[in-house]
Amino acid sequence: MKLRTLNSVLLVVLLMLVGLTWALHRDPSRPGYQFIPEMVSSVPYDAYSANPNFPDGKTLRTPVEGTIPRGLMPLHYGKTDADARRAGEELKNPFPKDSLALVDRGARLYRTFCQPCHGESGHGDGTVTKYGFPPPPSFTAPNLVAMKDGQIFHTITYGKGNMPSLASQIPRDDRWIIILKVRSLQELGMQQTTVSRK
Ligand code: HEC
Repeated sequence: MKLRTLNSVLLVVLLMLVGLTWALHRDPSRPGYQFIPEMVSSVPYDAYSANPNFPDGKTLRTPVEGTIPRGLMPLHYGKTDADARRAGEELKNPFPKDSLALVDRGARLYRTFCQPCHGESGHGDGTVTKYGFPPPPSFTAPNLVAMKDGQIFHTITYGKGNMPSLASQIPRDDRWIIILKVRSLQELGMQQTTVSRK
C-alpha cells in the first residue's frame, strides 16, 4: 500500500473516531443504565416532601403533646429557692459515693466545670474570682455541708444568683457524679479544719 493511501485511511478512521466520540457522548444530566432499579428511588414519602394524606400537607409529624424523649424524664422544678429545697427532698443521687472510678470522673468534671469559680479545693477562690467575679461560698460552709444532693443538683441544673445554669453543658448523670466530688472536697476541707485547730 502506498503511504498516501495509508494516510487517507488513517485520516478517515480519525474523523470517524472524533465523530463517534461527539455523537455518543454521555449526557451527565441523565443517569446511566440502572440494573434492577427497584430500590433506587424509595416508595415512601421523604421526610421533608409534601404529603397529601395530612391536613397540614407535611410528611414529618410533630410528636403528640406531652411526649418525652426516651430515657429523659422531665424535671418539674422552677428556678426558685423553694423548688431547690423541694428537689433536695425529692431527688436522690443514683450513684454510690464509694466508687473510686466515679469519684475520679467527678474530679475531672469538677476541674472543667466548677473549679474556675469554686477553686481547686472548693473554697470559692477560683481563678475568675481574682479578676472581679464575685466569689462563691466555700463548700465547707455549714449550710453547704448540710445541703442535700438533690438541692446541689438543682443549683447545677438551674443556676443560682451569679452561678449560671450548667444544664446544657453537663448531662444529668454527670451532674450527680460531680456532687460526689463536691462531697469528697467537703470531707477533706472539714478534716483540714479539724487538724489545723488542734
Ligand atoms: C461561673 C462561676 C461558677 C461556676 C462555673 C460554678 N459555680 Fe457554683 N456558684 C457560683 C456562685 C457565684 C455561687 C453563689 C450563688 C449565690 O448564692 O448567689 C455558687 C453557688 C454554688 C452552690 C451553693 C448553692 C446555694 O444554694 O447556696 C453550689 C452547691 C455550687 N455553686 C456548686 C457548683 C458546682 C457543683 C459547679 C460545677 C458543676 C459549679 N457550682 C459551677 C459560681 C459558679
